[in-house]
Amino acid sequence: MSELPPGPRAPAIVNTARLVRRPLESLLGWQKRYGDVFTVRYLIFGTGVYVADPAAIRDLLTGDQSDLHAGEANAPLSPVLGSNSVLVLDGPRHLRQRKLLLPPFQGSAVRSFREVIRDVAEAEVAGWREGAEFAMRDRMRALTFEVICRAVFGVTERQRVERLREALLPIMDMGAAFFLPQGLRRDFGPLSPWGRLKRRLRRADTLLYAEIARRREDADLDRRADVLSLLLRARDEEGEAMTDVELRDELMTMLAAGHETTATGLAFAFDLLLRHPRVLSRLKEELATGDDAYLEAVVTESLRLRPVIDASERTLTKPRVVGDWELPAGIRVYPAIVLVHRREDLYPAADQFRPERFLDGATESYSWLPFGGGIRRCIGAALAQAEMAEVIRVVTSRAELSPVRPELEPVVMRGITLVPRYGTRVSVQGVG
Ligand code: HEM
Repeated sequence: MSELPPGPRAPAIVNTARLVRRPLESLLGWQKRYGDVFTVRYLIFGTGVYVADPAAIRDLLTGDQSDLHAGEANAPLSPVLGSNSVLVLDGPRHLRQRKLLLPPFQGSAVRSFREVIRDVAEAEVAGWREGAEFAMRDRMRALTFEVICRAVFGVTERQRVERLREALLPIMDMGAAFFLPQGLRRDFGPLSPWGRLKRRLRRADTLLYAEIARRREDADLDRRADVLSLLLRARDEEGEAMTDVELRDELMTMLAAGHETTATGLAFAFDLLLRHPRVLSRLKEELATGDDAYLEAVVTESLRLRPVIDASERTLTKPRVVGDWELPAGIRVYPAIVLVHRREDLYPAADQFRPERFLDGATESYSWLPFGGGIRRCIGAALAQAEMAEVIRVVTSRAELSPVRPELEPVVMRGITLVPRYGTRVSVQGVG
C-alpha cells in the first residue's frame, strides 16, 4: 500500500473536534507543520488528504476525471435530494444532469435575476426597525429562500411561497438526520428522526410536484425566465426532456446547495464590512457614483477570506499522483479552498480584508476557489455572486447597522459549512 503524506497523529475524534471548533486555525496549523499536502483522520468521513497547492489542485480538477468521484461521498443526502440529484451522481449520469442545469445559471439568465434579488432585499430591509437586534444569517436565510423560490422555482404568489417555506425549511434544518447510521434510517413512527424526515418529505414532494404540474400547463411557459421553466424546456443530447422526478430532485438540490451557503456568504460579508469602516464608507461612495467595481471586489474578497466551504472533496477510484505523492484508490482528497486563499505568495497580507486587491477584476481560477472547480464547479456561482452583490448594495444604502460584538466573529464548522459563530449579530441603528 502507498504511504500517505504526514499529518496530525491525534486520534480521529480529536481531529474532528478541532476542525469543528476552530476550522481555520486547525487547517492553517496543520499546513504550517506538515506542508501543502497532509493527511487527517476524521470520524464519519474517514482518512483524507488535503492539498493546498494551486498547481496540484489544477492537475486534480482538470483533465481526465473518470478516476475521481464526488457524488459518492454525498450518498447520505440521496434520501432527501433523490437519486437523480447532480450532487449524488458520478460519471455520465452526472454529466447529463449538469449539462441540463448549467444554461439557466449563465450570464444573461442571471442578469435577469438581479431585479428579483433587489426587490426581495428591499422588502426584507423595509421590515427592519431601529433598535432591533438579530443574527444577520437568520435574516439572510429568509431572504435567500425567497430568491430561490422566485428565481429558481418561479413561484411568486405570497401564499404559495409561504407554503413552500413551511414545508421545505424544516427539511433543510434536519441536516443531522442525513448522517444517521444505516440502522437508524428507518421509520419508527412520527417521533423518530427518520420517521419525521419521511413525513416532511412526503408533504414537500406533494407541493413540488404540484408546482411542476402547474408550470407544465402554464400558457406562458415559453416566455418565462425562471430556472424551472428553462429546465422544462431543456432537452439532452438525445432530445429527451427531464422527467418530473428528475425535476423534483434538482429543485431540492438547488435549494439544499444554494440557500444556506449564500446566506452564510452574506453573513460573513457583513461581519467583515461592519468591522472595516473604511471599506464600508468607500463602498458607499463608489456605489453613489454608479460604479460597481468596488462592490464586486468586496464580494470576491469576502469569499476569499471567508469561504463558506473549507474544501472540495474527491474520492480516488484508482491510485493517482497528487503533488509529490502517489495516493491509493479509495482515499478522499480535499482541495483545500481555505488554505489556498490564505497563501501569502498569492495574497500578500492574506489574513487582511482588502477588497482593493481584486479591483482589476481578475481572479485566477485555481487561486480563488470558493465555488470549487472542474466538472463539479458550483452551478450557482454566478447567481450567488449576483445575490451577494445586490443584497450588499440594498442593505448598505438603506440601513445603518452596527455589530453587537467588537471583534470579528470566530469561524466554526456547522454541518459541512463554515459559519460565523453567532451568525453575525447586528443591531439596527437606522433604516431609510
Ligand atoms: C455563496 C454561495 C455558494 C457557495 C460558497 C457554493 C459553493 C459550492 C462548492 C464549493 C461546490 C462544490 C464544487 C466542487 O466540488 O468542486 C458547489 C457545488 C454545487 N453548487 Fe454551490 N455554492 C453556492 C451557491 C449555490 C447556489 C445559489 C446554487 C444553485 C441555486 C448552487 C448549486 C450547486 C450545485 C448544484 C452544485 C453541485 C455541482 C456538481 O456536482 O456538478 N450553489 N457549490
